[in-house]
Amino acid sequence: MRNLLWSGVVCLVGLVGCRGWESEKPPVHLIPNMDTQEKVKAYRKDTTGLFADGRSMQAPVEGTVALGQLNDDDAYFKGTDEKGEFVIKLPAAIKGDDGAPKAEVIARGQQRFKIYCTPCHGAAGDGNGTVNTTKGLLVPPPSMFSDRVKELPNGKVYAAMAVGVNNGNMASYAAQIPVDDRWAIVAYVRDLERSKDGNQAWEPGGDSGPAIDPNVASADLGKKLYKGKGCNACHSVDGTKIVGPSFKGIWGKSEKTSAGDVTVDLAYVTESIRTPMAKVVDGYPPAMPPAVVTDVEAQSIAMFIETLK
Ligand code: HEC
Ligand code: HEC
Repeated sequence: MRNLLWSGVVCLVGLVGCRGWESEKPPVHLIPNMDTQEKVKAYRKDTTGLFADGRSMQAPVEGTVALGQLNDDDAYFKGTDEKGEFVIKLPAAIKGDDGAPKAEVIARGQQRFKIYCTPCHGAAGDGNGTVNTTKGLLVPPPSMFSDRVKELPNGKVYAAMAVGVNNGNMASYAAQIPVDDRWAIVAYVRDLERSKDGNQAWEPGGDSGPAIDPNVASADLGKKLYKGKGCNACHSVDGTKIVGPSFKGIWGKSEKTSAGDVTVDLAYVTESIRTPMAKVVDGYPPAMPPAVVTDVEAQSIAMFIETLK
């Protein structure tokens, strides 16, 4: 008798639940506990009236920082100091008691370098990676043993991975390589250079001579910018053709360009830097990335080029 009664109830409940049309009401639920309660669901309209704009997913309050992601140490996360210049020093966290990077950090860097950098910069770090030797990149990856890379402050080697190089000539590897690993790779690059050149410093660029006033145009400032802004990737100062014309001996010269003959002077140099495509030198590819420079900086670069008679 009890069983019959129960099965009657079950049938009834079953029937009520299967009427075949939709209902806004919650289904019959005998022992609800806390199963159905008013709540907002992701990607659904907020029906509780809790939020004025009716969205259930709210943007985080401005200035919200996820736990452990404050990243306020620019030297570590951007490779720059308080003046915005690239740091010379390696982070203390990767160094051992002797001031040199720890062996396990270098080993990790080597392993990551092999995965991510070898295709272009080569397993030996000499710039002869498969991508470069088979496809012949328009702007070639430099050898890690070139003066260009050996003289880079550590922060700039880090930045090559964090933000890329020269408007994407080398893409950023920020998505693939986490911050700790980027510094491990920097340490490995220095270790690699030191294996060939015992005099190579772990932290090059520290002794850069007298400070140069960045607000007064000078050939010294121009020389610094020539390296700092990566012009040395494509322009030599000794007559060698890299990707662009060498700066040696061009000052005052007449150049044939896509917009006719021009004389290399301050106006032309400034325009070449800011809008390289305006006048493309005959015989060269339109491969120069525009750079942002102040008037003082453009003037300084022109003064530097003028010294390269
Ligand atoms: C797909 C090819 C490619 C890969 C992979 C690659 N690079 Fe590069 N890298 C380049 C090219 C090309 C340049 C030169 C860009 C230029 O001169 O404008 C360059 C330049 C550099 C420079 C010089 C930066 C400067 O400011 O002068 C450094 C340092 C560097 N790469 C480090 C790395 C490291 C470390 C890795 C591995 C995480 C890596 N690259 C992976 C192509 C690559
Ligand atoms: C990725 C390679 C690349 C980089 C980096 C680069 N240039 Fe160039 N540059 C070129 C090429 C290629 C040309 C020749 C074609 C043209 O005129 O655009 C050129 C032309 C020039 C010229 C004209 C030279 C002449 O003989 O008439 C000047 C001046 C110049 N660049 C300045 C700079 C300065 C300053 C920087 C650094 C802020 C720089 N370039 C960075 C590739 C580069």
